[in-house]
Amino acid sequence: MQFASVVDLFCGVGGMAHGFVQEHFNVVAGIDVDESCRYPFERNNGAAFIRRDVARLPGRYLAGLYPPDDITILVGCAPCQPFSRYTVRTTEDDKWKLLRSFARLIKQVRPDIVSMENVPELLDHKVYVEFMQALESEGYFVSSNMVYCPDYGIPQTRERLVLLASRFGEMEIIKPTHRPEEYRTVQDVIRHLEPISAGQVSAQDPLHRARGLRETNMRRIMNTPPGGGWKDWPEELLLECHKKTTGQSYVSVYGRMEWGKPAPTMTTHCGGLGNGRFGHPEQHRAISLREAALFQTFPMNYEFIPPDIRVSNKDLSRHIGNAVPVRLGLIIAKSIKNHLRPHYATKA
Ligand SMILES: C[S@@+](CC[C@H](N)C(=O)[O-])C[C@H]1O[C@@H](n2cnc3c(N)ncnc32)[C@H](O)[C@@H]1O
Repeated sequence: MQFASVVDLFCGVGGMAHGFVQEHFNVVAGIDVDESCRYPFERNNGAAFIRRDVARLPGRYLAGLYPPDDITILVGCAPCQPFSRYTVRTTEDDKWKLLRSFARLIKQVRPDIVSMENVPELLDHKVYVEFMQALESEGYFVSSNMVYCPDYGIPQTRERLVLLASRFGEMEIIKPTHRPEEYRTVQDVIRHLEPISAGQVSAQDPLHRARGLRETNMRRIMNTPPGGGWKDWPEELLLECHKKTTGQSYVSVYGRMEWGKPAPTMTTHCGGLGNGRFGHPEQHRAISLREAALFQTFPMNYEFIPPDIRVSNKDLSRHIGNAVPVRLGLIIAKSIKNHLRPHYATKA
């Protein structure tokens, strides 16, 4: 039996949606402006990818995507808009305007359940308080949940804000599934993979590809122990910014991961050594796209690359780094399922 129908706003390649698919929800569609997400979203989730700008999406159109008489769920991870170079003054309002579009659609469509995932910093913004108030004024019961991903079996030290709202009553996120001694670590997730070098693509797995390194960066990673970073290098390898006192704050850049700990938060630039603690614990390279996808808890058989079409590393890195970890989608889906169980019991 499939539980309730889901539409995923800002769906990307479908990290969040796939968690709902794994929990047997009926994912009907994902909406996103980035056409390059179509193949992975549709191929892995059996749902339509609709290329539309959420800011211009009419409520009536969204409402029409749900089958009649089903429980309706709207999920989404509204991205913050990068500040524009062409705008003289950009305010917090401009930055989070897609959250307002999300709130408008909720008011127009009145789905039974809403979930929104975002960065924890959003909790302190006026726009978030307004978002919650908009939902409460529509009669939703709203909860804001801070999620530390390792507590839920996600091998990343990512923290996220998960809003859950229901028209049926109070809804909370499920209890943590992993105690600290059970946290999934880098070694649990990637140690079994074939060793590759910087710039190499595995012959067996096209996603297991790591960026090339120039000679100086190769010397840098060779001088970085697991858990270490640029502070371990000899003077001649340091960058100018490291030598300034302000450089002291960038402790993670050029860092190496450790086998026995969860990975850091994946980002769209996680394939680059200089962008964070993205060095492989042992091999002299940054993590491969496959390793990033595994840290994002995508299953090995998730298809990112269409047959016969070349997808750039930049696109793949954006797709994977931007995703909500599949397992976080699954945890949200499980929380909604628990909440809906009494509803289905009375229907049966
Ligand atoms: C953080 S990613 C979402 C990841 C996705 N929810 C997942 O689970 O994998 C944000 C997405 O918002 C999309 N996006 C940005 N502005 C948009 C807009 N105005 N309308 C629709 N999608 C937009 C981006 O293309 C990107 O895929």
